[in-house]
Amino acid sequence: MKSTKHLPLVFYSAILLSIGGCKPYSAAAQITDVKTTSVEEQLYRPNFHYSPKKGWMNDPNGMFFANGNYHLFYQYYPDGNKWGPMHWGHAISKDLIKWDEQPIAIYPDKDKYIFSGSAVVDVNNTSGLGTGKTAPIVAIYTLHDMTKEKENKIDVEQQDIAYSNDNGFTWQKFEEGNPVVKNPGIRDFRDPKVTWDETHKQWIMVLAAQDRAQFYKSINLKNWEYASDFGKDIGAHGGVWECPDFFQMKVEGTNETKWVLIQSLNPGGANGGSGTQYFIGDFDGTTFTLDTNFAQRVTTEKAVWLDYGKDNYAGVTWNNIPSSDGRKLFIGWMSNWDYAQQVPTTGWRSSMTVPREIQLIKKDSDYSLISNPVLELEKYYSKTQKEKKLIGKEKLEIVSSGKVDLTKAVISFRLENLKNAVYNFTLSNAKGESVTFGINNSENFLFLDRSKSGKIDFSEKFASTISKALLNKNQKTADLKIVLDKTSIEIFYNNGEKVMTELFFPTQPFTSFSASSNEGIEINNLIINQLKTN
Ligand code: FRU
Repeated sequence: MKSTKHLPLVFYSAILLSIGGCKPYSAAAQITDVKTTSVEEQLYRPNFHYSPKKGWMNDPNGMFFANGNYHLFYQYYPDGNKWGPMHWGHAISKDLIKWDEQPIAIYPDKDKYIFSGSAVVDVNNTSGLGTGKTAPIVAIYTLHDMTKEKENKIDVEQQDIAYSNDNGFTWQKFEEGNPVVKNPGIRDFRDPKVTWDETHKQWIMVLAAQDRAQFYKSINLKNWEYASDFGKDIGAHGGVWECPDFFQMKVEGTNETKWVLIQSLNPGGANGGSGTQYFIGDFDGTTFTLDTNFAQRVTTEKAVWLDYGKDNYAGVTWNNIPSSDGRKLFIGWMSNWDYAQQVPTTGWRSSMTVPREIQLIKKDSDYSLISNPVLELEKYYSKTQKEKKLIGKEKLEIVSSGKVDLTKAVISFRLENLKNAVYNFTLSNAKGESVTFGINNSENFLFLDRSKSGKIDFSEKFASTISKALLNKNQKTADLKIVLDKTSIEIFYNNGEKVMTELFFPTQPFTSFSASSNEGIEINNLIINQLKTN
């Protein structure tokens, strides 16, 4: 619900930036009934994507690994199913797939909301906040002052810290030292992501400052020095920048390293509303400089997107993954501010994407990120069906009605002998509701269409456009992996080169999966994995 009563300054800055529209969370807190019904649970409660038992959830926050647990915190309002006074909700997992909800980790004080941020395991107790044998864990987040917002003040947001001396289960605000970064006179100044920069032996904080990312550095997590900024007039700027992430990564199969900036923005995403772009370059300890070829690509393509679907926002990576593991693990909020507060669930709202591994690859001299579901998902594969080759003249039934539970499945295959044609893949139910995705190989794009997917009328923005991602010309083959839950599809094209994540709300589960093309279809190496989720 949009309130016109106290539009925050971001509204005015939005107009200045000609991005039309205020933050959806300018709405006054809404106390709504958060009782879920068993019908709703059965139809829409995700089988294996994290969702809170009740209440509202948005961005993932402060993820780290410690003492055998993956921790996930998130923007949380327990008393309503719309955005409200922000807490940090909490869940833990041993394997990134099965999550165990924990008590709320950080509570807001009156009118002082706990916005997005990150957490680091301070292994060497650089902060001095450690008291015992275990390393202190330090959460760095934005304190958003609603009183100031209502008074139309500029200095609404500042960066605060809280710490935990029991591996991340209970937290204390660092009252005597907050804020650790004062507001410098910028209205949108939030979402600090901190990482240890091993090359320059310092903590680096990246945060979103309206139309750019700002970098700060510190040796103790308490005193921060401004370093530089990046991004004004570079990449997509359809809306305010939010929730950045910044880290060094090895290029797959080499010892070369590059720095990656992940940068969400809302609106202005690849296919409307909220979206996440990324940049690749170098960092000298103070300044981030785009790689020359990547800079060229950003100019030609306007932006390079981590996900081309409408429902992967504000995603960031886990800190403190052991070096013996070494992966870069990512999770995103599987929704979009365009309609997140209207989706047809009442007891809870939103879930996260499947956790993904992000890898940095280099082809010729071009760097890019690929993302794929974490391997842990394979532990949940139960009945697996395989087909070496399937050929259809115009239509091919891949899963006939009810043979596979399509509310928990991972399906992969290679599409061969691609012609100058359109290849459609359709999930459908007996009511004629469907989601269609595929490859338009004459106009070279991957697409996803949910316009007939069941409940769509809760928001005009939900299904009025088809999402697209441009592909290289003249593809002869295409590898597709799709991850299906009750209300979501995640498409990984060519080993995660292009990704599309979207929600849908059918009035009955999808039971069939078919392919069609007027030039015939050839599918090789089809693997259908049913997931065992309880
Ligand atoms: C992104 C965001 C962040 C902010 C949080 C508030 O979705 O707008 O910028 O910290 O949500 O809940």
